[in-house]
Amino acid sequence: MSLKTLLNKKSRRILGLMSGTSCDGLDMAVVDIHGSGRNTRFEIVATGHKAYTDRQKSVLLQLVSNQKAPLHLVSKVNFWLPRKWAEAIASFLNKNCLSATEIDAIGSHGQTVYHQSQPETVAGRKICSTLQIGDPSVLAQLTGITVVGDFRTADMALGGQGAPLVPYFDWLYYSRFKKNTLALNIGGISNITYIPADGDFSKVTALDCGPGNLLLDQAVQRMYEMPFDRNGNIAARGKLSTRLLNYLIKNDTFIHQLPPRSTGREHYGSTFIIKTLKRAVRLRLMEPDIMHTLSYYTVYAIHDAVNRFIKTEGPIELLSVGGGGAHNKFLMKMLAEVFSPAEVQTAGRTGIDEDYKEAICFAVLAHETLNGMPSNVPQVTGATRPAILGKICQGG
Ligand SMILES: Nc1ncnc2c1ncn2[C@@H]1O[C@H](COP(=O)(O)OP(=O)(O)O)[C@@H](O)[C@H]1O
Ligand SMILES: [Mg+2]
Repeated sequence: MSLKTLLNKKSRRILGLMSGTSCDGLDMAVVDIHGSGRNTRFEIVATGHKAYTDRQKSVLLQLVSNQKAPLHLVSKVNFWLPRKWAEAIASFLNKNCLSATEIDAIGSHGQTVYHQSQPETVAGRKICSTLQIGDPSVLAQLTGITVVGDFRTADMALGGQGAPLVPYFDWLYYSRFKKNTLALNIGGISNITYIPADGDFSKVTALDCGPGNLLLDQAVQRMYEMPFDRNGNIAARGKLSTRLLNYLIKNDTFIHQLPPRSTGREHYGSTFIIKTLKRAVRLRLMEPDIMHTLSYYTVYAIHDAVNRFIKTEGPIELLSVGGGGAHNKFLMKMLAEVFSPAEVQTAGRTGIDEDYKEAICFAVLAHETLNGMPSNVPQVTGATRPAILGKICQGG
């Protein structure tokens, strides 16, 4: 399809891709999308997940958890990832009896390997930067499908944090509920969007709260050699250590930052967890108590961010939880307690499969880009103005 035809379409079938901070795999969602802004309507056609093998995950972790990874590795993985993704897409489409020619475009978030939202000096100039790899142009050539990728850079160029970007999607989706809503995503990092009952875009607020699954995953991997604390079972067996909790509250610089703010593995990666676990050993804590306290802290950071930085009009009626953390029953139970009497539900219960929310979001953001519509939320990211996000790379 020519780019001109694609741009002129009113409805598009878009494949959204997300490869998140957790490095667990690639999430895929084919979405039929029509309209724009609050008038956007969409229908999920198919969803799928392709897990990274241990070997692939260790390559990614070398990049995302070691800020000193060699440049040649960044460059190689930038080409290797789209190859891997193109294979995953081909089998996903095939399994769902879809052909690549039926897909109008791909919206690809890419894999964040570096996100520096606080300015640092380069040759006398203060610069923020973010890098998502898995080159969209390579992916477009390998799949034959036009790709919209690299969504974060335009917002950052305008003085924004380039994150979070889900709030635009949260606004266009949740404003239909006409309730004071918090849309929470617990991926590697947790972020939250407030959507007022009247759906007024200018009142939408959002920020990264702190760790999502990142501390929990790293702790459980180091202590139990399991990928994650399934359903929060280990945490549920432990008890709270107020001393470890207070240590975290005092020493985690991110939760004390004012918004706009965003974070990633740069902050909550291996250095952070090693220091925390050393402290826990000094406090002679048992493993379940460590998991319990880290889970408690994860919810504490979410609640604290809402209390301090989100001005709501009336009480919160609905808290919709997306991301893999929505499966963590222990986290969900604590969220229900601290946000009571708000109704706390998985995003799936409100019509958006929690495992694919971000993939669906990037399909919708790609659609807006092809519509020529901005999709950052400037009051959230700190950008000076709305921006049309991403780069369009034409497929075959
Ligand atoms: N059943 C479960 N119980 C507890 N945690 C889970 C469960 N399923 C997934 N998760 C968590 O969700 C994470 C993946 O979440 P995801 O939303 O994909 O994050 P990201 O966007 O950072 O990739 C896993 O690493 C794990 O911590
Ligand atoms: Mg993931």
